[in-house]
Amino acid sequence: MPTSWEKNMFPRDFAWGAGTAAYQIEGGWQADGKGPSIWDTFCLEKGRVFGEQNGDEACNSYELWEKDLECIQQLGLTHYRLSFSWARLLPDGTTRHVNQKGVQYYNKVIDDLLACDVSPMVTLYHFDLPQALQDQGGWKSAGTATLFNDYAKFCFQTFGDRVKLWITVNEPYVCAKLGHEDGLHAPGIKEPGVAAYLVGHNMLRAHAMAWHSYNSFYRTKQKGAVSLAINSDWLEASVAGSAEDVAATERQLAFTLGWFAWPVFVTGDYPKIMRSAIDAQSEKFGRSGGSRLPSFSKDEPAVLGTADFFALNYYTSRKVEAGGGCGEVLSMKSDRDARDVLDPSWPICGVSWLAVVPHGLRKLLKYIKDTFNNPAVYITENGFSQVGQLQIEDVQRSEFYKDTILEVAKAIQEDGVNVRGYFAWSLLDNFEWGDGFSVRFGLFHVDFADARRGRTIYRSGREYAKIISKFQCGQSK
Ligand code: GAL
Repeated sequence: MPTSWEKNMFPRDFAWGAGTAAYQIEGGWQADGKGPSIWDTFCLEKGRVFGEQNGDEACNSYELWEKDLECIQQLGLTHYRLSFSWARLLPDGTTRHVNQKGVQYYNKVIDDLLACDVSPMVTLYHFDLPQALQDQGGWKSAGTATLFNDYAKFCFQTFGDRVKLWITVNEPYVCAKLGHEDGLHAPGIKEPGVAAYLVGHNMLRAHAMAWHSYNSFYRTKQKGAVSLAINSDWLEASVAGSAEDVAATERQLAFTLGWFAWPVFVTGDYPKIMRSAIDAQSEKFGRSGGSRLPSFSKDEPAVLGTADFFALNYYTSRKVEAGGGCGEVLSMKSDRDARDVLDPSWPICGVSWLAVVPHGLRKLLKYIKDTFNNPAVYITENGFSQVGQLQIEDVQRSEFYKDTILEVAKAIQEDGVNVRGYFAWSLLDNFEWGDGFSVRFGLFHVDFADARRGRTIYRSGREYAKIISKFQCGQSK
């Protein structure tokens, strides 16, 4: 069992990456013909985001991309995960009007990366729907999936000669739950127990259509791979021997990871326990008119088998107890009837939800191998946040990266999980959604008080660079 770095712990072609997302870093929210997105709108509403902050300028990567490239090179990354702003490319969300300045921007980013021997992984949708599409119903509307497919085809056609790793949708769970159940993310809709299932469904349809488009029209020529990024905590029964807690953990898993992974990797449909829990609650509340959880139509491209790899975003772990269903109100919480608890031995870092549990990642990877037929896995996000006083010498986060990457090595070596890459979240401190700039996830600090947005490497960035350089040549230095 490896406890420290050893030779050949990672395959030679392992992807060492870091990630960002358009709205979190680009700024330039109205530059050169970009259309507004739902986050532009959401941030304008009072009380939505910490300190009424917004991503109008963020890290200004729209103008300072070359500074980001320097950071990428300083770390020695082999891969960089970025997202395209749909509304920067297609201002009203449709291919009726293409913003050439947006195309030029992403062409430059991609070409610069490749010139430096860094492979881009591109996410097509990272929370920022064009506002024009929200005005027509957003992800609650079935038509948004079709427009997403048009957008995806446009991107494959325009950039796919150079981009070989694609993520269609980032974290459909978060978009559905935080954006449409809790109202904490854009578009700020709060329709508990109803909208999130519809939104999740349309995102899966969108993903499946885009995958089929790639498969039918681009794969042979472009030879890339397409998936969707699924976020999941590692979940364990609070009391291991409690049948109730074990059942609650299964329900919780079905309503999170299973919600999106089951249709794509296992059956082409949602987990049975998810549907039966939702339908039982509907009955209890006397709701008629069919299941709140939609069904996949046989007349549309199948969702089963639409991932060329498993893209996993992992941040934390939870223990699960039965109950907590708030039985009186129709909601996803009452459907699940399971409650998350924290193990007091897990340190909390920065934001309150982030308990640091590196070994949870190893367990989750093993679970994915066993449950989804040993897919190739990219860990597309994993990170550690800092709040309050700035600490450039972030010892704790440096240790976190070492510990976590060691767990990934164990998953590869001891458990035989086919992990193909690891992407730290994030390259830069950035606009952390509802927390604004108060939460810092970067390997580089960004000085948001200064118009030049200076980037300074954290100790954790130096540590990550050291790890990468150890394995990049395939042997321990
Ligand atoms: C993920 C999201 C990222 C980032 C991260 C840290 O859910 O994809 O954009 O914000 O969480 O909270």
